[in-house]
Amino acid sequence: MPVITFNRKSEVQFSLNDKFYRLETKGNKTLAIDYTCPHRGAPLFYGDHLGDKIKCPLHSNCFSKEKIEQRQLPVVSVNTTSFVITAEHNIKLLDKLMGLS
Ligand code: FES
Repeated sequence: MPVITFNRKSEVQFSLNDKFYRLETKGNKTLAIDYTCPHRGAPLFYGDHLGDKIKCPLHSNCFSKEKIEQRQLPVVSVNTTSFVITAEHNIKLLDKLMGLS
């Protein structure tokens, strides 16, 4: 079973098989949330946060943060190291995408 290891405490954004994820810490849990827009697949973490919704940077549709945060990859954290369990290893760390930030 493929596992991706992150040794950072800050938020990390990555793509994996045409999906966009952000590793976030909420409380004492680390989450790998799938921020892929359900419309055409844009990375929602570059969108505007409007209350309990996220506005997509591509076509400006709004989506519930609660529903977005329910889509996750399994994560196991030990101290400052997080292990994300995936089906693939085709990962790219993201800083900025042109025209979306
Ligand atoms: S890709 Fe997000 S609204 Fe179209």
